[in-house]
Amino acid sequence: MTITLQNQDPEIYKSLQAETLRQEEELELIASENYASQAVMEATGSVLMNKYSEGYPGKRYYAGQVNIDIVENLAISRAQELFWAEYVNVQPLSWSPANLAVYLGLLRPGDTVLGMSLDQGWHLSHGHPLNFSWLLYTIRSYGVDRVTEMIDMDEVERIAIETKPRMIIAGFSAYSRNIDWKRFRHISDTVGAYLMGDISHISGLIAGKVLENPIPYCDVVTTTTHKTLRGPRGAIIMAKEALGPKIARAVFPGVQWGPHENLIAAKAVAFKEALEPSFQKYAKQVIENAQTLARTLALEGLRVVSGGTDNHLILLDVFGSFGITGKEAETALESIGISTNKNMIPFDSRKPLDPSGIRIGTPAITTRGMKAPEMEMLGHIIIRTLKNRENIDKLQLIRSEVKKLCAQFPLYKNIHE
Ligand SMILES: Cc1ncc(COP(=O)(O)O)c(C=O)c1O
Repeated sequence: MTITLQNQDPEIYKSLQAETLRQEEELELIASENYASQAVMEATGSVLMNKYSEGYPGKRYYAGQVNIDIVENLAISRAQELFWAEYVNVQPLSWSPANLAVYLGLLRPGDTVLGMSLDQGWHLSHGHPLNFSWLLYTIRSYGVDRVTEMIDMDEVERIAIETKPRMIIAGFSAYSRNIDWKRFRHISDTVGAYLMGDISHISGLIAGKVLENPIPYCDVVTTTTHKTLRGPRGAIIMAKEALGPKIARAVFPGVQWGPHENLIAAKAVAFKEALEPSFQKYAKQVIENAQTLARTLALEGLRVVSGGTDNHLILLDVFGSFGITGKEAETALESIGISTNKNMIPFDSRKPLDPSGIRIGTPAITTRGMKAPEMEMLGHIIIRTLKNRENIDKLQLIRSEVKKLCAQFPLYKNIHE
């Protein structure tokens, strides 16, 4: 009998099958998620995971690296082509260690880092009280304007001059507007700071050439590879050539040892996919879908933070609009087969675990092939769910509509055939 996961470990196999079905039959609106291709998943599950390859191509500690070096060099050169980057490190196991490596490579403990305030769109790993960044560095923050709910660059400049940071971070988890990279560069030069862009959320849209590329303006740019970029879980660091050696040493041996070459191969596959013209069409559709969905929701009375979106994500003030907390909205939507996440909105008076907002995004549903008509349908589904969240019969009916919609846009069809 051939040994398969199914007969070797039926419990894990069962959960895996159930999750495949859940992804197939439900809608993924979490802005940081996507569906990787079969090719990306094949590379992730490949024999490359068996190999230890500490070091870098041509300079490894163990023997037997001939194929590994080819894979890693391909990942590097494809990322360079995709983002026009000078130096690329494809080894970070995920974004958090990539961030740790940047701090370690470019800063000294105690240095000041300036980034967006946590409750207004920054990621917790940039400077949360329980994160290493907060413990080892001096974290200062800028925010959005109370009225426009967009970043006020004059305010960023004022705070930068006041706090004299060694590094400024521009990069967000819940900010839906374009970033003024040029002005960030100007401010960084004014105060003598490094500029780091965290493009984790938008890197697929930059690769797809529908958002401005920050590489020419930043000293260092980090990104996850699994969000809009549609690759495997992981991250990369891109930097000016001169900073390459510092970043390389900080990643290895500074932060981590054996790189996950199976995931590096999967990153290379994703970069190849993103270099195709079809990926540019995908990226354009992601933004069009987000704008159609935001418009539909706003017309139905749901307040969109900052009045709209320039990228793939939409922040919704469900508490201000319908008196429902973010947690209640997330639970109601989950009950009909739509995944979202509760999220703070700017100047939120509520707490992080039960805030006023939810964050939604279109990368995953666009990968499924959905377009404007489905976005309008989805907008109505979301509104009906929130308004009828205590009516079990109505929720059941809506759940069957979601399932029907999913069936029209099959995901991993061949897994079930
Ligand atoms: C802007 C941003 N940076 C970094 C991360 C963290 O990435 P990872 O989970 O790979 O550490 C996220 C996660 O959602 C994010 O939104």
